[in-house]
Amino acid sequence: MCGIFAYTGNKGKDAGGILLDGLLSLEYRGYDSAGIFTPESGSIKTPGAVAELRKKVPKEFAGKSGIAHLRWATHGEPTEKNAHPHSSGDGEIWVVHNGIIENFKELKHGLEKKGHVFLSDSDTEILPHLVEEHLKHTKDFEKAALAALNELRGTYGIAMQYKGEPDKLIAARMGSPIVLGLGNGEHFIASDPSPILPHTKQVVFLEDGDVAVITPEGHGIKKLDSSNVSRATTEIDWNAEEAQKGGHEHFMLKEMMEMPEVVENTLRGRLIADKGLAKLGGLEEVAKQLEGIERIIIVACGTAYYAGLVGEYMLEEHAGIPVEVELGSEFRYRSPVLNQRTAVLAISQSGETIDTLEAVREGKRKGALTLGIVNTVGSTIARETDAGVYNHAGPEIGVASTKAFVSQLVVLALLAIFLGRQRGMSEKQGKEIAKELKALPKKIQSILDKHTSVEALAKKYVGSRDFLFIGRKYNMPIAYEGALKLKELSYIHAEGCGAGEMKHGPIAMIDEVFPTFAIASADAVYEKMLSNIHEIRARKGPVVALATEGADTRVEELVQDVIYVPKTIEMLAPILNAVPLHLFAYYFSREKGYNPDRPRNLAKSVTVE
Ligand code: AGP
Ligand code: GLU
Repeated sequence: MCGIFAYTGNKGKDAGGILLDGLLSLEYRGYDSAGIFTPESGSIKTPGAVAELRKKVPKEFAGKSGIAHLRWATHGEPTEKNAHPHSSGDGEIWVVHNGIIENFKELKHGLEKKGHVFLSDSDTEILPHLVEEHLKHTKDFEKAALAALNELRGTYGIAMQYKGEPDKLIAARMGSPIVLGLGNGEHFIASDPSPILPHTKQVVFLEDGDVAVITPEGHGIKKLDSSNVSRATTEIDWNAEEAQKGGHEHFMLKEMMEMPEVVENTLRGRLIADKGLAKLGGLEEVAKQLEGIERIIIVACGTAYYAGLVGEYMLEEHAGIPVEVELGSEFRYRSPVLNQRTAVLAISQSGETIDTLEAVREGKRKGALTLGIVNTVGSTIARETDAGVYNHAGPEIGVASTKAFVSQLVVLALLAIFLGRQRGMSEKQGKEIAKELKALPKKIQSILDKHTSVEALAKKYVGSRDFLFIGRKYNMPIAYEGALKLKELSYIHAEGCGAGEMKHGPIAMIDEVFPTFAIASADAVYEKMLSNIHEIRARKGPVVALATEGADTRVEELVQDVIYVPKTIEMLAPILNAVPLHLFAYYFSREKGYNPDRPRNLAKSVTVE
């Protein structure tokens, strides 16, 4: 995790201001501490995020170049001394780092023997010392940096600067994202394109093992073995304003309000509705190979994992392919049995989640076809998979994944049509799913329009210390998702549970102050859900139900509160049901006085294990 931003230019002396502004758009990547360095003005660091740093940085913090960092701590507490940038003992070399240097203890020990003194507990600090040591011999910053990087084991995205050559910055990437921004008389290094976009739309994504040098005038890239390499320039067409809050109180609310548009964008150009077909350009190259696939293993983490669970139901029911869903963090440690007839499908909003990425790599090693459903264009998972589908959900800044989740479910439904039609799904069935998909944006909008009633519910239940979420079949993963959102944003105990599993344990918790959120769509398991709700009511548990508009009123008679969502086909109901659950978690958190965009202990993308 963490955000890196670095700048070198010949336009003036406001590197300080440019870096602070840039850090703001990276804040979702980490906010344990912030720090900045320019050769002219030195370094300033603080626990907390950019606002804290701004308070400490004087107006006249001049510099023509500099590096800056937002930390999500892995080694050492989030204190000032552990904040980046870290420097060499002589104060000449400065480094910001994202990732973990796994052999830092050995390296530190060796350096201490040579007389180096360390001021922090962070793994990062060994790097500037290592470069300092090599610089003594090579007298050349680039060579010294390369030699030091070659000694590291672990993951890194790095920007470093040497006071002796203040215009020149070095970037390196091994497992953590780094992108260069190519401007006119100014160049940038960042963890993602967002802080670069106000300056230039031309970017270069580094690959693992790349070491880049930027100056105000240009850039060059080498591999760790010093051989030259060139990487394509990409034009990023996001508007930098897209990443702003757009008038809403929080990014999370803004992103939920974008859901209808996001679904339109995810579907755009991908449905041949009159033939009941899905056209997924990113899968064309592997379409033949997909016909021979006997099994799909979906790998993902957190909310994306729950999308995967819904995908399992969709793909098994409609495409007839056996599907398993695995947590990225478990997959590679349990000797999965894979072959060329297996497809490993990664789902990731950021495309950088290390556990999901490593699961893809494990799939590759074992000869599986690797696929991705990824939102962030040019991200590592997008680049490392054999083929895939982009979400086109736009940047998601809120730490809680909302619009990306809905978009992931839409892509999975498209995939069910795509693979289903390869494997005997009728045209009629394809057409029906396509028709229902096209109707989703309006239905989502109608739920969002009723957001104040969900807000009222959140107010009513905000005193609850616990919450159970139950659902069955397609909606069981949505119960998990509802609980995760409440946990991560409101820090209360919330549990998702298959409604049929309740009697095997969780029902013991129910009493008159333990509320349940029951997802009771009018589907094949509706009657069973009603029975489960009866069981909770018999134990005096309060129940909020999610029900289908226009269906019978039995559920309404049974529970304290009901939220109605429009009717759709069973496989798409999770998409509609997710919306009020996300809204509920948002308002609940806000009512408790928390910042839903920035839940404690979390960061947007988890790029360390
Ligand atoms: C969701 O609200 C989370 N904060 C988290 O579970 C997230 O979905 C997970 O870390 C996966 O991220 P990714 O989609 O970027 O891979
Ligand atoms: N491992 C480094 C630290 O703990 C970097 C963590 C990060 O990616 O922010 O300081």
